[in-house]
Amino acid sequence: MATQTTSIHGEWSGKLAFILAATGSAVGLGNIWKFPYITGENGGGAFVLVYLLCIALIGIPIMMAEILLGRRGRQSPMNTMALLAREAGGSPAWKLLGVMGVIAGFLILSFYSVIAGWALAYIERAATGAFTGLDKTGVEQLFSGLVGDWEKLLGWHTLFMALTVVVVARGVRKGLERAVSILMPLLFVILVLLVGYAIAQGDFSRAVDFMFKPDFSKLSGEAILIAMGHSFFTLSLGMGAIMIYGSYLPSHVSIGQVTLVVAIADTVVALLAGLAIFPIVFAQGLEAGAGPGLIFQTLPLAFGQMPGGVVIGTLFFIMLTFAAWSSAISLIEPAVTWMVERTPLERTSAAFAAGFIAWLLGIGTVLSFNEWSDVTWLGRTFFDNLDFLTTNILLPLGGLLICIFTAWVMRRKDVLDELELPDGALFELWHFLIRFFAPAAVVVIFLNSMGLI
Ligand code: TRP
Repeated sequence: MATQTTSIHGEWSGKLAFILAATGSAVGLGNIWKFPYITGENGGGAFVLVYLLCIALIGIPIMMAEILLGRRGRQSPMNTMALLAREAGGSPAWKLLGVMGVIAGFLILSFYSVIAGWALAYIERAATGAFTGLDKTGVEQLFSGLVGDWEKLLGWHTLFMALTVVVVARGVRKGLERAVSILMPLLFVILVLLVGYAIAQGDFSRAVDFMFKPDFSKLSGEAILIAMGHSFFTLSLGMGAIMIYGSYLPSHVSIGQVTLVVAIADTVVALLAGLAIFPIVFAQGLEAGAGPGLIFQTLPLAFGQMPGGVVIGTLFFIMLTFAAWSSAISLIEPAVTWMVERTPLERTSAAFAAGFIAWLLGIGTVLSFNEWSDVTWLGRTFFDNLDFLTTNILLPLGGLLICIFTAWVMRRKDVLDELELPDGALFELWHFLIRFFAPAAVVVIFLNSMGLI
């Protein structure tokens, strides 16, 4: 029963289509907006090292497991978990993993859309030449002029959410594959161009030192938790997004191979973003720990000064919006497929309903940059709390449960069958990571950040 070969929601046209879509999901604001700013806030090198280790030893193995579950279940994450639990003789409560994913997806999308709205707003600014001739104070004012105005933020947030809903309503195959296959390579080219500019005009060697020379005295327990959380966030793991994409993956495609391609592409984009931004930060005397506004206060300086900056800047923010868009789609896909399976709603209405819920929640994030900027809980604003709860708690918890289910509940033979990996050393290594290492690391990092060990 669990060996259904296709999903009722559609199927990718092949391996390449899956890689493109999964890369589209993985590469997004997490790489270009978030990675540089959390690296800046957490002291650089040591943080980057922990992040890279988490990608290699936790993220990649869990991504393989998540794809595997999706492909074997071929349904929404909740029904997939229910089905696979039944197949393996496990508890029906495993379904709750899917429920948790849907909730995490709504929460993440709600703030993701607000930040993507900043990128949209910056397309307009770049295109109208608003960056030309600006200095450090100018870009800072430009940024606070946007985030300080909740009406503007709400407008851009609404526009971005509408764009997301429209694509989701049309289904996975149409449009998405084609858009991603053109836009991702273009984003990559622009990033390389920006790194070239940073080498020529910025303080490149200081940036390289900052990003790659670990200073462990700057590494707190919380920084380790943030690095781990980010490895889940950036690879879109732990909430069923990759599971659902796996459910559209044709049988007999090597899961290990596609995972590696996606994870490497994702990591390269993040590192390039850091290498484009930090040289400018240091050359212009900006603050590396400036927070969520970092790229919006750094790159406009570069665009304002470089030849052709209006065109390159406009293209950059268009690409950033697209990257965010292809990620946002995967954030509500689990909720939408579930609604289609379980409620009378068809795909279009389900997409609208899901988008509306996330939009409503997003208002909290909109306000946390202005009207509610002083309202804090545990020293964090509404947005920071939402980000912390989802990225650093819910996603790693989801990942932990995925490990336990795949390695301890499912039959080894079924896992081996589905993974399409020969029963040899590589399989053993993966199985060890998923069975012992990754779950233990997640638990240790959780406890450590709480000061318990
Ligand atoms: N990975 C995306 C990024 O880096 C964000 C994202 C998309 C995501 N889908 C996800 C994060 C699912 C967590 C879970 O921008």
